[in-house]
Amino acid sequence: MQKNILVTGSNGQLGSEMRVLAPQFPQFRFFFTDVADLDICEAKAVMDYVSKNTIRCIINCAAYTAVDHAEQEPLSARAINAIAVKHLCSAAKKHNAFLVHISTDYVFDGFKINPYDETDATHPISVYGKSKLQGEEFVRVSGIASLIFRTSWLYSSFGSNFVKTILRLSQERPELRIVSDQVGAPTYAADLAATILDILANHSLPGHPEIYHYANKGKTTWFEFAHEIVKLSGGTTLLHPITTEEYPTLAARPKNSQLCKAKLIQNFGIHPPEWKESLKACMEILLAEN
Ligand SMILES: NC(=O)c1ccc[n+]([C@@H]2O[C@H](COP(=O)([O-])OP(=O)(O)OC[C@H]3O[C@@H](n4cnc5c(N)ncnc54)[C@H](OP(=O)(O)O)[C@@H]3O)[C@@H](O)[C@H]2O)c1
Repeated sequence: MQKNILVTGSNGQLGSEMRVLAPQFPQFRFFFTDVADLDICEAKAVMDYVSKNTIRCIINCAAYTAVDHAEQEPLSARAINAIAVKHLCSAAKKHNAFLVHISTDYVFDGFKINPYDETDATHPISVYGKSKLQGEEFVRVSGIASLIFRTSWLYSSFGSNFVKTILRLSQERPELRIVSDQVGAPTYAADLAATILDILANHSLPGHPEIYHYANKGKTTWFEFAHEIVKLSGGTTLLHPITTEEYPTLAARPKNSQLCKAKLIQNFGIHPPEWKESLKACMEILLAEN
C-alpha cells in the first residue's frame, strides 16, 4: 500500500526538486502543497489536512527564507519558521506521522574554525537564524519521530538563488564584486531531496527527533562559487573578491558555514556529491533553459 506523504512549501527550491523525484518512489503517494493550498501557519488547517488525507509522513519544505527581510519582519519569520513548525509537530503527533524538517547552517554564529557537527552549540546571529532555531526547538521538545536536516547555501534550477543571480548578473555586467571571506558548501537541492526520499524509502527511521547535517562535499567561498558559475557558463565577467564588511547586508552571516557530514555518512552510508559536480549538473539544466 502507498504511504501518504505531505510536502509543504512545495513550490520552493527543495519542494520542486521533490516533485521531480516523486515518480521514482511509487511506494509513496505525494500530497504537494504550498501556501495557497495549505498555509502551515493555520493550525486547524494543518491538523485537518493530515487527518483527512491519512498522512503518514510530513516533509516540511515551507519556510520564510528571505534572510535580510527577516530583520525587518521578525514576526513573519517566526510565524513560518517556528510557530508553524509547532503546528506540524502537533498534527504529526496526533496522527502518528513521521516529520522531516529542514533547518540551516545559520543556527550557528560561524566563529568555529572547523566544520560544525550536530552536537555543537547553536548561537544564531540573525533573525532568520533565530527563527529557524526556534523551529528546531519545537521539534525537539515535541519528542516526535522525526529528522531535522540542517543544510547550507541551497540552490536549484527552481526558485531564486545565488547561482541564478550570478548567471543573470554576469550576462548584464562586465565586472562583479563577490564576498570572499565566508566559507561554506553550496548544496544542490536535488541532492538533498534525493537523500531525504532515499532515507524515507530505504532506511530505518528514528522514533525521536534526530538532527543531521547535509551539504555537498568540499568547501568554498561565495567568490570561488561565483567564479565556478561564470566559468561553467562560458562567461568572461571579471570577478573581484571583497570582504563581508565591503558588502553590508541587513542580516549578519556566519563567516564559517561548514557542516560536518560524518553522522550522515556513518548512520546512513550516504556520501553527498562534490559541490562542483552538483553545480555542473544544475548548470546544464539552467544553460539548456537559457
Ligand atoms: N535557501 C537557502 O539557501 C537555504 C539554506 C539553508 C537552509 N535552507 C532551508 O531549506 C528549506 C528549503 O528552502 P528553500 O530554499 O527550498 O525555500 P524556498 O525556495 O524559499 O521555498 C519555501 C516555500 O515555502 C512557501 N511558504 C512560505 N510560507 C508558507 C506558509 N505559511 N505555508 C506554506 N508554504 C509557505 C514559500 O512560498 P512563497 O515563495 O510564496 O513565500 C515557498 O514556496 C527551508 O527550511 C530553509 O530554511 C535554505
